[in-house]
Amino acid sequence: MSKTQDYIDQHIDRFLTELFELLRIPSISTDSDKKGEVEKAAHYLINQLEDLELDTVKKFETAGNPIVYAEYCPHEDKPTVLIYGHYDVQPSDPDELWNSPAFEPTVRDGNIYARGSSDDKGQSYTHIKAVEAFRKSGTELPVNVKFILEGEEEIGSPSLIPFIEEHKDLLSCDMVLISDTAMFAEDQPSITYGLRGLAYMEVEVVGPNRDLHSGVYGGAVENPVNVLCEIIAKLKDENGVIQIPGFYDKVIALTKADRDAYKQLPFDEEEYKKSLDIKAVHGEKGYSILERASARPTLDVNGIWGGYTKEGAKTVLPSKANAKISMRLVPDQDPKDIAEIFTKHIQSLAPDTVTVKVSEHHGGQPSVTDLDFYGLKAGAQAFEDIYNKEVLFSREGGSIPIVSDFKRVLGVESILMGFGLTSDAIHSPNEKFAIKDFHRGIKTSARFLEILPEYAE
Ligand code: BES
Ligand code: MN
Ligand code: MN
Repeated sequence: MSKTQDYIDQHIDRFLTELFELLRIPSISTDSDKKGEVEKAAHYLINQLEDLELDTVKKFETAGNPIVYAEYCPHEDKPTVLIYGHYDVQPSDPDELWNSPAFEPTVRDGNIYARGSSDDKGQSYTHIKAVEAFRKSGTELPVNVKFILEGEEEIGSPSLIPFIEEHKDLLSCDMVLISDTAMFAEDQPSITYGLRGLAYMEVEVVGPNRDLHSGVYGGAVENPVNVLCEIIAKLKDENGVIQIPGFYDKVIALTKADRDAYKQLPFDEEEYKKSLDIKAVHGEKGYSILERASARPTLDVNGIWGGYTKEGAKTVLPSKANAKISMRLVPDQDPKDIAEIFTKHIQSLAPDTVTVKVSEHHGGQPSVTDLDFYGLKAGAQAFEDIYNKEVLFSREGGSIPIVSDFKRVLGVESILMGFGLTSDAIHSPNEKFAIKDFHRGIKTSARFLEILPEYAE
């Protein structure tokens, strides 16, 4: 075994202790009260990177949260890998459903339970430790590395998108390496070659100027909650096909080769249903579960409210109703276009008894990686060397908006090397990350940096 791999095995306990410190910081980007905590997480990473004696470690202030940048580029003739990750996390609520506090990392059954353990502090930290293994074991790093760590991924990367446009030279590289996705299954490494995009909308239906007595007015005055439900019910037909005119216009259809590749992936529907306690699966007719969950666009209500929802019965005709609706997008759908046709369509469904307002939240572009890119081959080999298992290539349903910008602005592919599991419960209570995957992740990253030059020739 190489000196770097030995170093990782010898220092894994300290790596864990350090990760726990990072996980104790509640760097929730969507909560403005947590700005100081987000800042603290950035500083923690800066200190960590400064310890590696790189060429540069720098904090860039933005209109939002800081961007942490570092580079070590000693070679003129070797590839440059830009390592991306995010140190912001989702809120922890509902806190009462956590078996141990969200920001007090706790080990149970070989897993680290904490918000951000898998998404994305634990996963992105693997690369910092992989680089440390070279810097501290007296092994020359065989490639150039740059780090870019942001604190706004969970809110759509509003500062990072303009940042990369303005810092093209600084960020110039041959590829981006990201660990912010999941492996196909436990002990089954995979490289993700497609991510969905996102359009996220909010709809408000406004009726009478106040909540009314539902006996006195019900029947004569329109009920905004009823209207909202009727509108939502019209957005998909009985086959799960989205009814917004033009919605599928830019969808690149799956080819026979794409669909054959999907069929090769192992998938157990009974296991899937059991893991979620559902009686049946659901979705667009004519597509498999894996296709529905990663290669086809969707429309889902994320939240809906209005009227009386507390204990007991209050007879009320609500004055307002609201819903948050997201659409996952696939290449070449554009979130802006989709937001526009969604808005038009919702307005066209609104009866004149109410006023309907539609607004747009952050979105993100979908992406697919070129499967012939040499970096993917090196990534697969690194995974195989550490996990002793052949790597699968799959697409995933989640979104990392910046991936499409890396391609558009910097002209490079991203290697999505996830070490997490689908069962890590990211964004949910009891998020976890397996210690063995944290450990193997660091080793895989180091192995990747070690063998990459052979693939670049
Ligand atoms: N790491 C996730 C994205 C992800 C998860 C991709 C699992 C593939 C598999 C990321 O942090 C995330 O949650 N992204 C958001 C998008 C953003 C615009 C809020 C998402 O997918 O909802
Ligand atoms: Mn993430
Ligand atoms: Mn996330």
